[in-house]
Amino acid sequence: FGAAQVLVASNRGPVSYEVADDGSLRAKRGGGGLVSGLSAIGPEAGALWVCSALSDGDREAVRRGVGEDGVRMLDVPADVHADAYNGIANSVLWFVHHMLYQTPLEPVFGAEFRRQWASYETYNRAFAEALAEEAAEGAAVLVQDYHLTLVPGMLRELRPDLRIGHFSHTPWAPPEYFAMLPDDIARQVLQGMLGADRLGFLTRRWADAFTACCERFAGGPGDTRIGVHGLGADADFLRARSHEADVDERMAALKEEIGEGRRTIVRVDRTELSKNIVRGLLAYRQLLDDRPEWRERVVHVAFAYPSRQDLAVYRDYTAEVQRLADEINERYGTPGWRPVVLHVKDDFARSLAAYRLADVALVNPIRDGMNLVAKEVPVVSDTGCALVLSREAGAHEELGDDAITVNPYDVVETAGALHEALSMRPEDRTERSKRLAAAATALPPARWFLDQLEALREA
Ligand code: G6P
Repeated sequence: FGAAQVLVASNRGPVSYEVADDGSLRAKRGGGGLVSGLSAIGPEAGALWVCSALSDGDREAVRRGVGEDGVRMLDVPADVHADAYNGIANSVLWFVHHMLYQTPLEPVFGAEFRRQWASYETYNRAFAEALAEEAAEGAAVLVQDYHLTLVPGMLRELRPDLRIGHFSHTPWAPPEYFAMLPDDIARQVLQGMLGADRLGFLTRRWADAFTACCERFAGGPGDTRIGVHGLGADADFLRARSHEADVDERMAALKEEIGEGRRTIVRVDRTELSKNIVRGLLAYRQLLDDRPEWRERVVHVAFAYPSRQDLAVYRDYTAEVQRLADEINERYGTPGWRPVVLHVKDDFARSLAAYRLADVALVNPIRDGMNLVAKEVPVVSDTGCALVLSREAGAHEELGDDAITVNPYDVVETAGALHEALSMRPEDRTERSKRLAAAATALPPARWFLDQLEALREA
């Protein structure tokens, strides 16, 4: 047996490496909700984090034996990883859980899918084997997300002594949508996860959908316990980090771009199909049409950071976001006013600067497991912000009372919600923003993680 008492397994790890021009390796922090949540658990906690080598830099780091304490990167063959990550995880499972298919044409589960599925199995087996090798007797293993649904079952066979948990950072599809998957694959996914002692979800809604899928395809959830842990924002970290010098610098630059005395509608996302950035821009354009009094007086600050660019649909989506922002700026802009300030280069300090300046936060995903931006902006904003929030975001279960709720497909309604948010009385806005911040920070990441560990030990 290995030595680790607590293990975390996920596709994306806390760091990733780039090969610099001089051949040295530069480390940078991973992105997305999963990494943000788990980053609170450093090697100090005594945990070993098993993740994938994702970039050429990562593979080089594995080859050179470079790495951080408490992190083990698995270098599965690049083509196997591409099939598992791009082919199955991001193009099938992500699409099913976020309801992203345009069903008259997609999905098509043919021979190509079956070939990629075999890679997904190989990939999951590599994780199960590494975890089996590293885990001490009776250790707790927390497997993360849709990339690794088969790991709990595989690991259970290799190491019956372990306590195994799995946590989903995504929504879970209702049975009628999940039923799109071939039956044998649907069963394999569910049974793989049911190999865990305990499964965690971000909201009751996703947990109930999972149970309903188990009832339909796997004869119920059996002995596996199912729990809900709503990951919250890390208030202490965010408040301190957002007042560092680099954030102040970014604020000054952003203020220049926005112009004196204007309101801001802020959004920050990965350029992700499920985040619904295009309809957000359409709603903003609708606002400028319906309420011309806002022209020159408001700026939409939209940060859309590149994501999953190996997939053509993501590249096309990124281009559409860019095109629409340009179109709005051309059609409505004046010499002193750029209606949309779009940035695509990932910059955490600048994201925090935008949070601080936000009058309105726009979070309108088609579906989202939780959405941490909705929780972070109210904590960080200098003057308190109004939140326009999709009812399809997991965060809506916790923040719905003080947000302005929208149906993410309804662009006219969203435009109206933006107007309402911009027009909110300052006292109301401050009050609501305080309550949003309190609800958003109820379960900070370190607590969220420890709760799961505790629940797993009790399971
Ligand atoms: C979501 C998923 C995470 C994923 C993140 C970023 O939050 O739940 O598992 O890491 O998106 O996506 P990426 O494909 O870049 O890892």
